[in-house]
Amino acid sequence: MSVLVIIPTYNESGSLPGIIDRLRAAVPDAHVLVADDNSPDGTGDLADRLAETDDHIAVLHRPGKAGLGAAYLAGFDWGLTRGYDVLVEMDADGSHRPEDLPRLLAAIEAGADVALGSRWVPGGSVVNWPTSRKVLSRGGSLYTRLALGVPTRDATGGFRAYRADVLRSLDLQTVTSNGYCFQIDLLWRALQRGFIVVEVPITFVEREIGSSKMHRGIVIEALTKVGQWGAAERTRQLGRAVDRWRAGRGSA
Ligand code: GDD
Ligand code: MN
Repeated sequence: MSVLVIIPTYNESGSLPGIIDRLRAAVPDAHVLVADDNSPDGTGDLADRLAETDDHIAVLHRPGKAGLGAAYLAGFDWGLTRGYDVLVEMDADGSHRPEDLPRLLAAIEAGADVALGSRWVPGGSVVNWPTSRKVLSRGGSLYTRLALGVPTRDATGGFRAYRADVLRSLDLQTVTSNGYCFQIDLLWRALQRGFIVVEVPITFVEREIGSSKMHRGIVIEALTKVGQWGAAERTRQLGRAVDRWRAGRGSA
């Protein structure tokens, strides 16, 4: 199974070398793609220097900050073109522990189409988060479960492994969501197509260096879009129920 780990970066020069070291130690065969949005702090140059001495590392330079979702889409494209079997999403800031990746990959080997690192299943946890962030994250997943009728406990989690075929079938060219919503969007697409999504417990460690790039607009994007997808799904369900009722009347 050839594995590509995609790490989107924007101003992560303080964290990136350490996280790549740990990743290379935890999963030595995996290849790494840093997708950098021309970080002003020089993360892109730093990644180039790491790539010069390690043939398992590559760098995708993008012209400017366009959001986490856009960086992942470009990274998926890069990896799918090159024929990797499994593509992984992982943050650069240390929140996702590379040491948890072997368990995500084991879930794929055991038959999952998508292995979702989950903070909110038994065995999962969050380190150094204030209560307000925990409430927001759990509330976001609860809202998603109710709006879309999905069973997933951690719908926004961003530490994931996808089988390449899954990504090929998700119509990624129509994805426009960017922040937390990007994660929900891909999950929803995978579930709608009947793929097997397995939640694997992980420990999410809040970053100690640098700062989060998420902001209020990203939360609002997620609430709005998930609400719209939920309404569309209910409308489809209603349409199917009416069709069944009509068919039943016709045959009576
Ligand atoms: N290339 C690029 N461009 N990378 C970005 C951008 C961007 O515009 N914005 C963020 N990133 C990178 C960061 O450098 C980091 O490596 C990763 O994406 C996550 O960004 P953070 O700003 O640290 O996000 P977070 O900690 O608030 O959110 C994480 O947890 C959420 C769930 O709680 C992410 O994993 C989210 O995907 C997840 O939904
Ligand atoms: Mn983070």
